[in-house]
Amino acid sequence: MGITPVDELDIPTIDPATFDMSHTESLASMVELADDTWIAKGLFGYAILSYADATAILRDRRWHSAASKVAEMRGITDPELVGNDRKPSILAAEGDVHTRLRRLVGKAFSPKSADRLRPFMRDVVNGLVDPVAASGRADIVTDICEPYPIPIICELLGAPKADWQLFSRWAEDVLRIFNGTVLDELDIIKAARRELNEYTMQMISERRSDPREDLLTDLIAAEEGGDRLDAEELVMMVNAVIIGGTDTTRNQLGCSVALFAEHPDQWKLLADDPDIAPRAVEEAMRYFGAVRGTGRFASEDIVYRDILFPAGTFVFPSTATANRDQSLFPGAETFDIRKEPAGSPHLTLGSGIHYCLGAWLARAELQEALPILARRMPGLALADGEWKPPGTAIFGPDTLPVTFTPTR
Ligand code: HEM
Repeated sequence: MGITPVDELDIPTIDPATFDMSHTESLASMVELADDTWIAKGLFGYAILSYADATAILRDRRWHSAASKVAEMRGITDPELVGNDRKPSILAAEGDVHTRLRRLVGKAFSPKSADRLRPFMRDVVNGLVDPVAASGRADIVTDICEPYPIPIICELLGAPKADWQLFSRWAEDVLRIFNGTVLDELDIIKAARRELNEYTMQMISERRSDPREDLLTDLIAAEEGGDRLDAEELVMMVNAVIIGGTDTTRNQLGCSVALFAEHPDQWKLLADDPDIAPRAVEEAMRYFGAVRGTGRFASEDIVYRDILFPAGTFVFPSTATANRDQSLFPGAETFDIRKEPAGSPHLTLGSGIHYCLGAWLARAELQEALPILARRMPGLALADGEWKPPGTAIFGPDTLPVTFTPTR
């Protein structure tokens, strides 16, 4: 059998109307498409719809992360933001550079480091529920999800409570790089990056003389065979934690709460039996992941399944459709936290070398938050929420007004 160039394939094009549907309809139509084809033409390049193919591509080192192209794809040319002269972020690094970074930082993101923060996570969630519990009403997004990740990241890094607001603004501004309006906001993004970098340099110098129990101290101390992260790399890691760990966590929490609101019996189960939280979190991430896919480009000409993907071709492994693959996830179309875990992991935290570095932290954050919310917001019912457009890279609710039986 010969090799077919990808642009000569006779494959469906994802209907742009999909992006105007509700998120559930949009996902249903993509899952239906995935029954017929493992590859489809998408907005930027090719969507990879099946679990086997999405994982194969994510695990193949010739496909490089599109994170390095985000600025360029949005038409940004400012060298301070495109950053070709700087060392790459871990999110975008490849090959030996990436292997070295993961080796150096891996231990600092272990399950044990995440567990260290669990009591703090519980305090933060309870502190957020306290003002709304007695009223029986809340907006889950503004009251709980939005503010939740920043204190955790500050505590993780070792930044004091007095600086939570500062971090919140930096995170918001740095994340503007993903907005449609980014070209009007370059100065804001650059200012936030500079301030955050200066702040981080200050924290680093304090910890060099006065080590503490926090991520930054762990990263400064991390050493492998005499190799260490330099100051520029430490600053880059702090940026990566903010970019990777803020919007993802808050949107995953929002998606999960919305899902539970549609499954009241399972919300009650979680309230009555918090030990089921780890399973509940995996099932919520599988069924309704805030990250629905990620981008890769071919670093060289790649032949896969007898198809030629010329160097530079973009693909988009669709984790959302992969997670609904019936052959791997029995009962894939239903959300059920009582189900025995499937043999294969869901892909919402990625796969391959870029697998989420903060996976244990993300799990811990959700495992601590959801049972507290379930216990303190019984009888949860959704009013009309507003959702981001289905094509948004990190998807979730913009508002999620709820009512529940008031508690103390
Ligand atoms: C529920 C919340 C989260 C979700 C759904 C999520 C999802 C992901 C996914 C899908 C990737 C892989 C991206 C790719 O392959 O292109 C990733 C990478 C990453 N995540 Fe997360 N993430 C979450 C929370 C966090 C947290 C809390 C942190 C910070 C501590 C974090 C830090 C990172 C970093 C640094 C990477 C890049 C790893 C690398 O390139 O080697 N994430 N995340």
